[in-house]
Amino acid sequence: MSGRAYRIAVIKGDGIGPEIVGSAIEVLMKTGEKFGISFEFNELLAGGCAIDKYGLPLPEETLASCKASDAVLLGAVGGPKWDTADPSIRPERALLGLRSGLGLYSNLRPALLFPQLASASPVKDTGAVDILIVRELTGGIYFGENGSYKSDDILADGTVKGEVAYDTEAYSEGEIRRIVTQAFEYARGRRKKLTLVDKANVLRSSRLWRSVAKEIAPSYPDVALDFLYVDNCAMQLIGRPASFDVIVTSNMFGDILSDEAGMITGSIGMLPSASMGAPGTPGMFEPIHGSAPDIAGTGKANPLATILSAAMMLRWGLAEAEAADLIEEAVRKTLDAGYRTPDIASGDESEIIVDTNKMTGSVLSAIG
Ligand code: IPM
Ligand code: MG
Repeated sequence: MSGRAYRIAVIKGDGIGPEIVGSAIEVLMKTGEKFGISFEFNELLAGGCAIDKYGLPLPEETLASCKASDAVLLGAVGGPKWDTADPSIRPERALLGLRSGLGLYSNLRPALLFPQLASASPVKDTGAVDILIVRELTGGIYFGENGSYKSDDILADGTVKGEVAYDTEAYSEGEIRRIVTQAFEYARGRRKKLTLVDKANVLRSSRLWRSVAKEIAPSYPDVALDFLYVDNCAMQLIGRPASFDVIVTSNMFGDILSDEAGMITGSIGMLPSASMGAPGTPGMFEPIHGSAPDIAGTGKANPLATILSAAMMLRWGLAEAEAADLIEEAVRKTLDAGYRTPDIASGDESEIIVDTNKMTGSVLSAIG
């Protein structure tokens, strides 16, 4: 045993969060035993449960403890209970606060269609879908200047404007360069295709993305770079999903397209993500899906996206690639054996419908 030890900040969050994070922790412990890795899990509050306890979604102590960890593992935050709250104390603010507080500018969202789940995809004959969406995560309209004011101005048809609200899409060359360069690197390690998605026919900020990407491209002669407008990309993802390799895009376009890509892979319950900042700083790893309050406590939650997020944590956050491989292999074996939570069941009689615990148990036994 080499005795590597990591401090993991654990934010279970709301809804199904505690159940699926519990599964991922069991898988991490078992995997750790195999490789001589030990974990110290430090549970922290954020989201709705933090609003209930402290009156705010991201207590300072949570952010400070995350910063002092080697990585952050997060379940999901939010639920109808907090939907009416003042926007500054909605559970989602916790996510945005963690992203900006930890400087997590790079969000990796792999959309991989497991062949075993091909029939669960609403898109027919997809071919082998394996897309990596690289979403910019700390800039753009999510963090740009915003505000509201009253206006007595009259529109051309005579309507009075009244209340005006605005959010600003602003990107700097530096923000674009660091994320696009990373995307080129990821493409180089994969099928060597990079698609920049933007709205350069309308938006000035998108034109800056294009010119920065064109500047970087000559340093990656082995990677084929192309450009797609976001509306066209939304169509092409359905029409020819297998032709995409790496997609790099802004915060908001990445938010939208990653949900679409997720749907193509059959279930959002399968999709992990990694959010990373400067090298040497802790990354955050979480499933793409939400807190699913409607099924919380019923045992129906699919733990695989969180288990796969734990694998991403090992691979990208802790440089423990072999341990990550073992978890991903165990998930594939579990699917091969026919185990399905309700969200990924196709109705085929060879499938064994299981709850969260049984699914977790079968991944644990596949780890060995
Ligand atoms: C996501 C979510 C978040 C986002 C919300 C919950 C703030 O949709 O991570 O994709 O828009 O980034
Ligand atoms: Mg989203």
